[in-house]
Amino acid sequence: MLVNLYMIKKNKNTLNHIAIIMDGNGRWAQKRNKPRIYGHKKGVKAVLKAIDFSLCNKLNVLTLYAFSSENWRRPIQEILALIKLFVCTLSSKIKFIHNNNICLKVIGNLNQFDSKLISLILYSENLTKYNTGLQLNIAINYGGRWDIVKVIKKIVRLIQRGLLDLNKINENTVSTLISLNHLPPVDLLIRTGGEYRLSNFLLWQIAYTEFYFTNVLWPDFDSKIFKIAIDAYFCRKRNFGGL
Ligand code: IPE
Ligand code: IPE
Ligand code: MG
Repeated sequence: MLVNLYMIKKNKNTLNHIAIIMDGNGRWAQKRNKPRIYGHKKGVKAVLKAIDFSLCNKLNVLTLYAFSSENWRRPIQEILALIKLFVCTLSSKIKFIHNNNICLKVIGNLNQFDSKLISLILYSENLTKYNTGLQLNIAINYGGRWDIVKVIKKIVRLIQRGLLDLNKINENTVSTLISLNHLPPVDLLIRTGGEYRLSNFLLWQIAYTEFYFTNVLWPDFDSKIFKIAIDAYFCRKRNFGGL
């Protein structure tokens, strides 16, 4: 539940929710003649820094893209190493997360993971669900298109059961059924790693989000670049279609 509604506020733009596409781990490692997984391990340190920064600055919501539904196309060794890293990090940091009043939520299609991982996620979400500080969302096996298809299926089921009238479906119906529906909209989306694309991250949810792209590779992401991205956000004029 969100209680801490104070946000970093400088001008008219309010900043409740930041999402990050954490890209560039592999290239960071390759530049150092190390295996890609070395970059992913360093990437975890950058995740912890980003969480620290969010706590210090009383950010309401941080949503991190950790594994896309398309990342299954990678070599199996890398996929297994990424899953192992996720399990180890969550197991070792859950106490820290809970002690810091962080409410954790995992979004994505969890059906493809084994029951041990699902139990760990459910345990962590359950443990932290009444925490009132930072809302931390981790997207794993997440795809924006998957998210939209999931909503379509829910809507069809509601219609079939006679619980929803076709003529009453509107944008709000979708917004209330899609991932992160209980949270404020994404104000700022940061992508590291120098690519200018969304890679199937939050599609519906970012219709009016401000984007910040940086060449910094994810393991090098720190409070300095985080602050630069936020400062850039506060210089933007958000119109939402108005004047
Ligand atoms: C992002 O880094 C992490 C995941 C997608 C899991 P990459 O692994 O995509 O790193 P690059 O883009 O190959 O450098
Ligand atoms: C996006 O990065 C996914 C995550 C950061 C989890 P990718 O490296 O998978 O994106 P593409 O393949 O370059 O678009
Ligand atoms: Mg990449």
